[in-house]
Amino acid sequence: MKHWQIDDVAWDRFDPALIDPAIVPLVKAAAMVERNGIDYAAYLGGVFADDPDFRAAADAWAIEEVQHGDALGRWAMLADPSWDYEAAFARYRAGYKVDVAATSSIRGSRTGELIARCMVETGTSSYYTALADATQEPVLQQICRQVAADEFRHFKLFYDHMRRYLAREQISLMRRLRIAAGRIGETEDDELAYAFHCSNEPDALEYEHKRCMSAYMSGAMGFYRFRHIQRGMGMIFKAVGLPPRGRLSDISARLMWRLVQYRQRRFAARNQQVPHAA
Ligand SMILES: [Fe+2]
Ligand SMILES: [Fe+2]
Repeated sequence: MKHWQIDDVAWDRFDPALIDPAIVPLVKAAAMVERNGIDYAAYLGGVFADDPDFRAAADAWAIEEVQHGDALGRWAMLADPSWDYEAAFARYRAGYKVDVAATSSIRGSRTGELIARCMVETGTSSYYTALADATQEPVLQQICRQVAADEFRHFKLFYDHMRRYLAREQISLMRRLRIAAGRIGETEDDELAYAFHCSNEPDALEYEHKRCMSAYMSGAMGFYRFRHIQRGMGMIFKAVGLPPRGRLSDISARLMWRLVQYRQRRFAARNQQVPHAA
């Protein structure tokens, strides 16, 4: 059961005067990745083939992710009536493939897979909270709040299953940390950059990772405030099995906050240098 429906959104409150134009391309890109959740559920189905409870939970999870894509996509079409969500997604899907035929996790264990999922949900819950806090446009704000609430629940879902597998697989703290850090680092892989390309750039312009990543990240990272990073760090700590609150988590949050600000400036500088489509 979904916790909310697209028709629950107060679409009639949409106010174009309150749109920050810089937010629109980011919402379009995010819609691509969210909608692709359905393929990730197919991958999880293969990895957890003999665990019907988890598979059912993953299928329900994917339906919520697809709704995130559909809600963000619908908002982006209000913000930019010339944009076609379905066409952009078809383009993304044709070029970005999740290995739906996998029978074991690319993380080396089921615990590792679930820790990686926790990292993704940490990232999305923080991001949509930051976006909701940053936007003045009431419909986008409502969508981002609902989506963020789902992402926090998704974290809890994957965390609970992870604990179950950890009791069985007993992978070390070091390995858990490596998997978590590895998945966080993958944020800068093609998934988001290519989503930015398909949802914002013309067909004629060839995909280039660096250009798309800097365009996406310079905008996205700018929405974060320290409180979002702090909460996210607590979730990362919890997922790997460290105390979510305390000195170590605090110091890590401060370091991460500096890193986010530094990376945002770097991406913004790079974004100024590269030629863009629009
Ligand atoms: Fe989502
Ligand atoms: Fe999620």
